[in-house]
Amino acid sequence: MNLGTLDDVFREQIADLYSAEQQLITALPKVEAAAQNDDLKRALRSHLEETKGHATRLELILAELGGEIPREHCKGMEGLLAEGDEIASASGDPTAKDAALIAAAQRVEHYEIAGYGTARALADHLGKATARDLLEQTLDEESAADSRLTRIATGGFLRSGVNQAANA
Ligand SMILES: [Fe+2]
Repeated sequence: MNLGTLDDVFREQIADLYSAEQQLITALPKVEAAAQNDDLKRALRSHLEETKGHATRLELILAELGGEIPREHCKGMEGLLAEGDEIASASGDPTAKDAALIAAAQRVEHYEIAGYGTARALADHLGKATARDLLEQTLDEESAADSRLTRIATGGFLRSGVNQAANA
């Protein structure tokens, strides 16, 4: 990797986000299948559709950038998804598992929010108005997905559906 200019950094960031979104598109159906709560399943399903849109936006940005696009594999997302996969395969109480899936999904959202926030700031700085707007749209959807997960987690199903402790 050669990072000579902020433009190089922007390309690297966009390519990394693209890898992250691609990995998430592959992983989300398995997470949805592992979830039990209907609201959670719906949220994961609709976020899969949004995530496909995020990948498309990044493709538009990459096309506009032109030139050589660095090949990236987002190891951060790989790690987060490996943790999610462990939960999806876990045995135990389905509601407790849902709580753990929400925790894993929110880590993914926060990771993406950090990445898109930086990419948007770089686009702004570099005067790439179209890219900036596309990144902001995705950032807003990631934040909304995160808030939706918070609402599901705090909306009562955890309190009513799961033993609070091993001896409860
Ligand atoms: Fe996304």
